[in-house]
Amino acid sequence: MSGNVMGERFRVISFGESHGPCVGVVVDGCPAGLELAREDIQRELNRRRPGVSDLVSQRAERDEVEILSGLFRGRTTGAPICLLIRNEGADDGAYERMRSSPRPGHADFTARVKYGGFNDYRGGGRFSGRITAGFVAAGAIAKALLRLMGVEIFARAREIAGIEAGDIDLEGIEGPPKGEDPLGCLDPETSGKIAAEISKSRSEGDSVGGVIECIVLNPPIGLGEPVFDTLDGDLAKAFFAIPGVKGVEFGAGFKASRMRGSECNDPFVIKGGRVRTLGNNSGGILGGISNGMPIVCRIAIKPTPSIRKPQRTVDLDRMEEVELVAEGAHDPCIIPRAIPVVEAMAAIVLADHALRAGLIPPVIGGSGARSAGGRL
Ligand SMILES: Cc1cc2nc3c(=O)[nH]c(=O)nc-3n(C[C@H](O)[C@H](O)[C@H](O)COP(=O)(O)O)c2cc1C
Repeated sequence: MSGNVMGERFRVISFGESHGPCVGVVVDGCPAGLELAREDIQRELNRRRPGVSDLVSQRAERDEVEILSGLFRGRTTGAPICLLIRNEGADDGAYERMRSSPRPGHADFTARVKYGGFNDYRGGGRFSGRITAGFVAAGAIAKALLRLMGVEIFARAREIAGIEAGDIDLEGIEGPPKGEDPLGCLDPETSGKIAAEISKSRSEGDSVGGVIECIVLNPPIGLGEPVFDTLDGDLAKAFFAIPGVKGVEFGAGFKASRMRGSECNDPFVIKGGRVRTLGNNSGGILGGISNGMPIVCRIAIKPTPSIRKPQRTVDLDRMEEVELVAEGAHDPCIIPRAIPVVEAMAAIVLADHALRAGLIPPVIGGSGARSAGGRL
């Protein structure tokens, strides 16, 4: 399989399958000298872990990260960082029974045809949400790099099963809003309604989808390399690597198509000596380049394909139509676990572009030739 590498300077190589020994990433191009603790990565992974509530899959995984290379005495060395997460809770039985009958909405059919049936189909293999554990681990390193520039990223459920959370006022906001709510709606009533709807659909053997909103606070001006590596283009590509994503929009997004220019344009103003815009219909990106306003994007996620309601499919061995009830442990809604994945993908793309723009040095601190101005 090709297509498992992303990024130009901060490169992430993804490996592993849902029911193989492990999933993980190799991160190449991370500057040396970045302070990083295993806990910084584990904290993010714990937010994506299954089995933590009845809103998510009951697959039993500890998701403990092992750092195999690239970190020495609490700092990155400049060498590739290999991060591995073992698979512990896989149950192959369900997938042997479903082997010849592709799940509607999942990648079973396209993967089987594309790879001639040699792909590891167990648990969806490479197409499982499980591979996003590696994305989150890599994203934790990217977030640590971005923090050096004061950039913070957070995502939240904007809408699930048609129940919408309200807008966040980003004016003057310094960091991600604090709160225990894993959906990040910031309003317990909406979160409660959403949780009830997810539980209801699960009890009916069904699933629900929705929209994740991702916000980047304090981005520098100038990230993005037009014309083919625009910031919005690269962000969208990274979000589309998350299984289940069906749409991405920035700022006013699709609504912009129904506005007039006078309504859609964000006027420039001077605030505290800085050029800002009134409103943010552009979502913080103009011409594929960050303009310094918060980057605001929304990611549409479909309902989980594997459901217990009987569905029509085909038996590919016998070439006849059959009925399928998906077995195995599944998320009744992908969003609660995809929120940290969206943050991770945004962080990876921004760290890559910050390195490309020369905003993060190749060595952070230290006493080598570089920090001595090349005089050694
Ligand atoms: C965190 C996460 C968890 C997921 N959990 C499940 C799941 O339990 N069951 C399932 O059928 N799909 C799940 N998915 C979605 C499928 O992997 C995805 O729909 C499938 O690979 C087909 O890809 P597509 O929807 O992008 O076309 C999950 C995705 C993510 C990001």
